[in-house]
Amino acid sequence: MNVKSTSTNPQTYELAIVGGDGIGPEVCGAALQVIKAAVGSNRVLTCIDYEAGADCYTRTGIAFPDETLEGCKKADAILHGAAGLPGVLYPDGTEAGQDFTLQLRMALDLYANVRPIKLYDGVSSALKGRGPGDIDYVIVRENTEGLYASRGGGVVLGDEVATDILMVTRKGVERIVRFAAELARSRNGAPADGVRRVTIVDKSNVLRSFALFRKIADRVMEEYPDIEVDYALTDAMAVYMIERPDTFDVVVTENFVGDLLSDLGAATIGGMGMAAAAEIGDRFGYFQASHGTAPDIAGKGIANPIATILSGAWMLEWLGQKNNDNFLIEAANRIRRSTSSTLISGDALTTDTGGTASTADCVKAIIDSLAHDG
Ligand code: IPM
Ligand code: MN
Repeated sequence: MNVKSTSTNPQTYELAIVGGDGIGPEVCGAALQVIKAAVGSNRVLTCIDYEAGADCYTRTGIAFPDETLEGCKKADAILHGAAGLPGVLYPDGTEAGQDFTLQLRMALDLYANVRPIKLYDGVSSALKGRGPGDIDYVIVRENTEGLYASRGGGVVLGDEVATDILMVTRKGVERIVRFAAELARSRNGAPADGVRRVTIVDKSNVLRSFALFRKIADRVMEEYPDIEVDYALTDAMAVYMIERPDTFDVVVTENFVGDLLSDLGAATIGGMGMAAAAEIGDRFGYFQASHGTAPDIAGKGIANPIATILSGAWMLEWLGQKNNDNFLIEAANRIRRSTSSTLISGDALTTDTGGTASTADCVKAIIDSLAHDG
């Protein structure tokens, strides 16, 4: 039964859907199918499709239409596939399609890019000897400043000189470190020792912007005596993530470093197809996987939709928490359980994770499993 609530608990949700380019529309569609199956007729999800990305730019000359921004602003949450295509460039050489995500982060102040690095049972890690339970941490990537802040700014002198400035602000560091510390409080600590820990990753030994990042992060962590504080320099962190991933719980870092390290982390949990994410601010939530558009496999029906499905489940949980709607939180949990069990059975494993499932097979396996879960 579709019930339109008149109470403070709205039971109708508007979702802005932006498929994007390459495999984007395929994985986004897959996630929506799973979301709809999990929610059924218990809630009304009004999905509105919007255009953005490289293809949109090629057709219209605009990568991120105003209408899409307005639609994202008025929606309860935004679900995205992926956008951008290698050859579709602005005159300055940067990719036009990525403007959507990059502008949206600023426009909606989506300051926390939360990227779980979790190895699921049934998926093998590129790291020798690491199994399920060994890798389970979250990279909290600052998403509105750092090196990305001066995008489109800086100095460009013809084809001879170009600069981009890495920007760190007190407000930006305080809120991202608080976010990380609160997240650590909600978790069970690092797999290796069960200790709740925030690892601050920076290059404070070389750059003053990072020295300030660490100083402010340290100050904020004094408010959390129950959480252990740990430090790693960016380059050393790349090694630690390979050698001792089980010692991490929550990792917090600057925007560009977080971009790099979250891809490295993804490689340790089965690849980019497993890398879910949520980009969250105080008001808005934007849900998309960490991966790109994989144009080489677009349209073949073989893309791994798991990352976007898990991001979609997260969207339901976030909406549920925001609106005091337990049904959505439970729907998110059911999607996670079904994803987990079909990865274990192998039915949800696409070719990139060593299986034979097509995108559609993977979705069907998860939906079938949902039907058997309470
Ligand atoms: C990511 C992507 C984006 C980034 C692109 C699409 C702008 O790589 O979300 O990690 O560089 O942040
Ligand atoms: Mn990235």
